Amino acid sequence: MRTVPPEISTRPAQEGDIEALVETLAPDVAPEQVRDRWKEHTEGTRRLLLAEIDGAPVGTISIGETRHYRTDSLRALSLDVGPAHRNLGVGAALIAYAESEAIRLKFKSIHHEVGTTNDDAVRLYESQGYKHINKTVQNQWWVFPDGGNQRMEEETSWVMTKVLAVPDA
Ligand SMILES: CC(C)(COP(=O)(O)OP(=O)(O)OC[C@H]1O[C@@H](n2cnc3c(N)ncnc32)[C@H](O)[C@@H]1OP(=O)(O)O)[C@@H](O)C(=O)NCCC(=O)NCCS
Repeated sequence: MRTVPPEISTRPAQEGDIEALVETLAPDVAPEQVRDRWKEHTEGTRRLLLAEIDGAPVGTISIGETRHYRTDSLRALSLDVGPAHRNLGVGAALIAYAESEAIRLKFKSIHHEVGTTNDDAVRLYESQGYKHINKTVQNQWWVFPDGGNQRMEEETSWVMTKVLAVPDA
């Protein structure tokens, strides 16, 4: 275990970061999936955010459009930390960054759909003050298993939500 935690910084992703992000998230996330997230970023349907250690990307989270059933809540999605950089606080730093963006954009709360069997992620969200109501949703996303063909994947998920302390205007 590291005694001195590394310095983690966060910022919006840029086009020049994408191939380094592809490398850091491999093999858990397919290259096409990372590139597709960037495409959605350029199309305005999500904003891709980054965490860095020593100037190199180590993880990402996205913030997206609000879902019609939760207009006061910002949707966070696609939290991934490179396998070599887990358990260092990167996930927590990315969640905190997404929250600061939600506050800046004047959302009252933030939510993230997390697979009910994804114990590491559920525990991390709970440790950051997120709660879920006892109801699951079917979360769907595209994967690129063999580099070209995309396939819809589906997971039973909790909606983990946190009410934000929005400063008075
Ligand atoms: C889930 C995931 C994002 C967590 O990312 P992470 O960077 O490892 O998260 P953190 O380091 O902030 O926290 C993880 C643990 O490390 C601990 N930790 C944080 N900083 C630490 C440090 N400096 N030294 C030792 N442990 C530390 C945390 O307390 C936490 O402990 P816990 O497992 O008992 O709750 C990562 O495992 C991942 O990418 N998984 C695959 C994709 C995925 O499931 N994404 C979530 C989709 S909803």
